[in-house]
Amino acid sequence: MSGPSNYQPKSAFGKWMHERLPIMELVQGQALDFPTPKNLNYWWTFGGILAVMLVAQLVTGIVLAMHYTAHVDMAFDSVEHIMRDVNYGWLLRYLHSNGASMFFIAVYVHIFRGMYYGSYKAPREVLWMIGVLIYLVMMATAFMGYVLPWGQMSFWGAKVITNLFSAIPFVGESVTTWLWGGYSVDNPTLNRFFSLHYLLPFVLAGLVGLHIWALHVPGNNNPTGVNVRGSQDTVPFHPYYTMKDGFAIVVFMLLYSAFTFFGPNYLGDAINYLPANPLSTPSHIVPEWYYLPFYAILRAIPNKLIGVIAMFGSILILFALPWLDTSRVRSGTYRPIFKQIFWIFVVVCITLGFAGSGPPDNYFLSHEAAPPDEWHLTYKLVGQIAAVCYFAFFFPILPLLGLLESPKPLPPSISDDVLAKKKPLVPAE
Ligand code: HEM
Repeated sequence: MSGPSNYQPKSAFGKWMHERLPIMELVQGQALDFPTPKNLNYWWTFGGILAVMLVAQLVTGIVLAMHYTAHVDMAFDSVEHIMRDVNYGWLLRYLHSNGASMFFIAVYVHIFRGMYYGSYKAPREVLWMIGVLIYLVMMATAFMGYVLPWGQMSFWGAKVITNLFSAIPFVGESVTTWLWGGYSVDNPTLNRFFSLHYLLPFVLAGLVGLHIWALHVPGNNNPTGVNVRGSQDTVPFHPYYTMKDGFAIVVFMLLYSAFTFFGPNYLGDAINYLPANPLSTPSHIVPEWYYLPFYAILRAIPNKLIGVIAMFGSILILFALPWLDTSRVRSGTYRPIFKQIFWIFVVVCITLGFAGSGPPDNYFLSHEAAPPDEWHLTYKLVGQIAAVCYFAFFFPILPLLGLLESPKPLPPSISDDVLAKKKPLVPAE
């Protein structure tokens, strides 16, 4: 896509370096001069926002780790020590915990953008699948990070989620014991979670490198979904998209700051300010907001094993998306029925989130749940209906829609589309 770079070193040092490690040629060809469709809208700025959030999480996380102690007797207190005694420790911690939420807000926008504009379709299937892998690693990383403060929700969340593996036939109990490093969630569990929570963001960084590589082979998709036909359809990434991404990053940082400074615990759970107590089960065990839709799918199904399969299946099905969507047209803009179904799907995902936040039945901890009340049943029923709609979107709706829907005519090229939208200049009176 980028073609041979016309990089010419300007200084003597630049020439010396270029002959040994042509890194500036790579930067110029793959970043600054990279031909980018000229019609990308603000939904395309979330990739850059995500990259910034990954760096923010790495930097704040590494400094937090300098003051944190991964031991069941000290973890909770070490976090309080960070909050109270370490210079700007409160800021570091709030940036990191709210940063996780911001990271997920950005990734959800990024994923839905990809779904609306058909960015997963050929030739970007591998790019999409690396994205799904990134999302899975993000979920695992955030889950383990949440356990580290060793509050009540850390402990009980870890217990509920690790217990899910015990549903695997025959080997379930052994797998859970292996994950725990003992016979319950305890010090070895906390230690390995800390180790992995430190490691996985670097795995993420590597995957993001592959993601960008896979992006730069076919180049960006764009709001029309029409292929780039020539240099008239593109502009160099710099300065056009460095500026546009930069502006979006600044606006996103305002939202991040608003949470960090004005509502640092708004997205968290108050009971995580109680130290973990294995002898006292909280009445309502609920994961962080970004897991809620999947938690709702898990709880929608009364059978534990099938619930676990459905929950993991609801994420893994994303890998198959490029093949489930049979439409020849990429962008939802030209697909009148898909467009509506897409927005219904977004509402379904949000509804699942609400259902996931509903009252528990503690099913996974003891099978002697309290008799459910009406309110509880409503949450459950809504969750069940939404879960069916979620899967129906992927199958059979998407494959059938691609075959049955008649798309609107596509613009002949990106330039034609851009020029058609340009309003004629009105002469001054
Ligand atoms: C750490 C997380 C991630 C980072 C840093 C990241 C970064 C990027 C960047 C910089 C771009 C190009 C700009 C843009 O299109 O916004 C991009 C494009 C893309 N990403 Fe991601 N991404 C991440 C996660 C994901 C996930 C979870 C998915 C899907 C499940 C995904 C799917 C895609 C697709 C399909 C494109 C091509 C978009 C297009 O050209 O239309 N990414 N990503």
